[in-house]
Amino acid sequence: MKAIGIEQYGGPEVLIRKDIEVPQPKEGEVLVKVRCAGINFMDIHTRQGKYKTSRTYPVRLPCTLGMEGSGDVAKLGAGVTSLDLGDRVAWCISWGAYAEYAVVPASRLAHIPDSIAYDLAAAAIFQGSTAHYLIDDVGQIKAGSTCLIHAASGGIGQLLVQLAKHRGATVFATTSSESKAEVARKHGADHVMLYDNGRFADRVREATDGKGVDVVYDAVGRTTLRDSFRATRVRGLVVNYGSVAGSLTDLDPIELGEAGSLFLTRPRLADHLADAETVQRRASDVFAALADGSLTIGISGRYTLDNVEEAHAQLEERRQLGKSVVMIG
Ligand SMILES: NC(=O)c1ccc[n+]([C@@H]2O[C@H](COP(=O)([O-])OP(=O)(O)OC[C@H]3O[C@@H](n4cnc5c(N)ncnc54)[C@H](OP(=O)(O)O)[C@@H]3O)[C@@H](O)[C@H]2O)c1
Repeated sequence: MKAIGIEQYGGPEVLIRKDIEVPQPKEGEVLVKVRCAGINFMDIHTRQGKYKTSRTYPVRLPCTLGMEGSGDVAKLGAGVTSLDLGDRVAWCISWGAYAEYAVVPASRLAHIPDSIAYDLAAAAIFQGSTAHYLIDDVGQIKAGSTCLIHAASGGIGQLLVQLAKHRGATVFATTSSESKAEVARKHGADHVMLYDNGRFADRVREATDGKGVDVVYDAVGRTTLRDSFRATRVRGLVVNYGSVAGSLTDLDPIELGEAGSLFLTRPRLADHLADAETVQRRASDVFAALADGSLTIGISGRYTLDNVEEAHAQLEERRQLGKSVVMIG
């Protein structure tokens, strides 16, 4: 089968096209005929070696890229009783989706309803499940909450804005350009601003009578996190769920005290998809919201296993304005 993988960490040049044997499912695993793979910033982090020592995401070389996909159950490993051959399924945070077939633990697979196409399922399950746990479990956003969402035109950013608005929050949002700001406004963000070298924090304070917001969602990292502290209310929560601009490596916890006894968390999806029931519950919520139109995900690029590098370049060069997928089978 055709697959794209890496044998060393690095830039786009380390991607290798491979012709390999179809993998076989072991106990508790399922072979999926892949229809579509989602393309995510996490693929770039994987390629760069960010998880080379990770315990949460034990991705080791050599590795087939892609950690989100959709397809049909093609073979069941021993002991799998929750699925049947031919079932339409989607999954995330199990690697190997940039291939014609992938082996996935049964506990990571969610059923896809008939109303959701394979490409939308592959575009939705990873970022959708992430936004779902960040809004409901970590930030506990509800009517009357205030939150600031950075990179609000990014894949997860767009979903955070929509979910926070559905829960009744007032949403502040940042982007790096006016055209991206328009995307955040379209999804309902109340106050949209540019990062402006950290001056977003002053704008948030001005608009909240000097208080700051209850929760800040920051996946940018090094270039925004300290100013995110300034935008947070006393005893508020800063959710540093990613670091696309690199990590803040010189943080002294006293800074959280000085900023107003803040809570800082670095959550991970893997710890919020602990079992098959949770995987299906989050996916079902996201699929239902997509089906009834209360959540939208625009698929802005469709690639193949022959040109996926172009999609990676878009993400790394901050040109992406929606979600891209790899069309496979
Ligand atoms: N913790 C978790 O559970 C979890 C789960 C899924 C993903 N993540 C992480 O969340 C982050 C965002 O993921 P995503 O899928 O939403 O990514 P994405 O669609 O590529 O969006 C990232 C956004 O970050 C902004 N950005 C700021 N500085 C950037 C830089 N130096 N390079 C590239 N983009 C930059 C860009 O918007 P502007 O140009 O407007 O700034 C871009 O739209 C990634 O780090 C990912 O690994 C975490």
